[in-house]
Order: sequence, then structure tokens, then C-alpha cells
Amino acid sequence: MKQKKKVVVLISGRGSNLQAIVKDSMHEDCPYQIIAVISNNPQAEGLQFAQQHHLQTAVLNHKEFENREAFDQALAKLIDSFQPDIVALAGFMRILTNNFVEHFKGRLINIHPSLLPNFAGLHTHQRAIEVGVSEHGATVHFVISEVDAGQIILQAKVSVLKTDTPEILAARVLEEEHKLYPQALRLLAENKIKFEN
Ligand code: GRF
Repeated sequence: MKQKKKVVVLISGRGSNLQAIVKDSMHEDCPYQIIAVISNNPQAEGLQFAQQHHLQTAVLNHKEFENREAFDQALAKLIDSFQPDIVALAGFMRILTNNFVEHFKGRLINIHPSLLPNFAGLHTHQRAIEVGVSEHGATVHFVISEVDAGQIILQAKVSVLKTDTPEILAARVLEEEHKLYPQALRLLAENKIKFEN
């Protein structure tokens, strides 16, 4: 069998997307494997899940660094030590510096809870309801310096119902995220999709 692509996952919190990715990676036919999970938040729940599944974990607390540049430099060095093919942001709540993004360009991806280019940034579900869109969803995209703006790899749509609260809508989107992120990783790992400048 072909060598599996090596993925490092970056998280800051709950880690439900991490769980979906890890579960997918356990299938024998999966073209990628998770080689490490890194968090900037020592309390991230996702770290426990990773440890329970015997994955290598690391914490790099951004609060212990003088500035964003210093944190990102250390983070890049840590990630490089695993020599990953793909770096997947999964609820990683940090804005990344230009140098970091350039260093990993083409192998750095993110999942965002909206149909980009609509609703970049935070509070996407609440904003979708306020604007009154009929469709909402999630996007997996390559990361470039501009936040939530890189090339789109895959999207999943859900309907927005009149009765939706941000929480109800978030749950419906999240269910799709958990299918979307593994699919996108498979595409990338199988070289079926490539970043182009
Ligand atoms: C997800 O909604 C993801 O789209 C966004 O942050 C959330 C992370 O959730 N980037 P989880 O930590 O994967 O449960």
C-alpha cells in the first residue's frame, strides 16, 4: 500500500472535528494518518481525546510568548519537527502571521463554519440568521494570509429554518463539518486537489 500522508492537526478547544478526522484515519484505506495534535490551549478538550487514542500531543501556550511572531515561529518549528505533508487547522483560534502562512502554503488547510466567501470571521451562525439567508454551511479551504479567504476545497450546505437559533443551526452545520473535513483531507492526501497561486 502507498505511504499514507502525514497530518498534523492544530486545535484550541472542543476538538469535534479532530475526532471526526481521527475516526476516518482509522480506516485501513484512509490515505492519511494523524501524526500529532498540537494545541495553543493547555485546557483544550481535544487533547484528552487525542491522548486516549495514543496520538502524540503537544501544547504551545501562546500566552508564554512575547508576541504573535515569536509564537508562530516556535509553532512552525514544532510542526516542522513532525515533517507533515498536511497541516489541518481544526478550531484553531489564532490568527496566523504572514511568515507562518507562507512557510506552510499549499499544505495548510482550515475548516470554517459558513459558505465562504459569505460570513468570514466569527459568529457565523448568528449572522446568517440575522441576514436571513436560506442556505448556510461549512467550507474547507487552503489558508492564505487574508483570513478565511484561501482557495476553497469543499463546501457542504444546510438549509436555514425559520425556527433556527444560532445553536440549532451550529449543530446542523457541525454535523456536515464532520463529514466534510475527512473528505477534504482524503482529496488532498490522494493528490486530487492542489493549491495554485
Ligand atoms: C468548528 O465549527 C470549525 O468550523 C471552526 O471552529 C469550530 C471548531 O469546533 N473553525 P471543534 O473544536 O472541531 O469541535
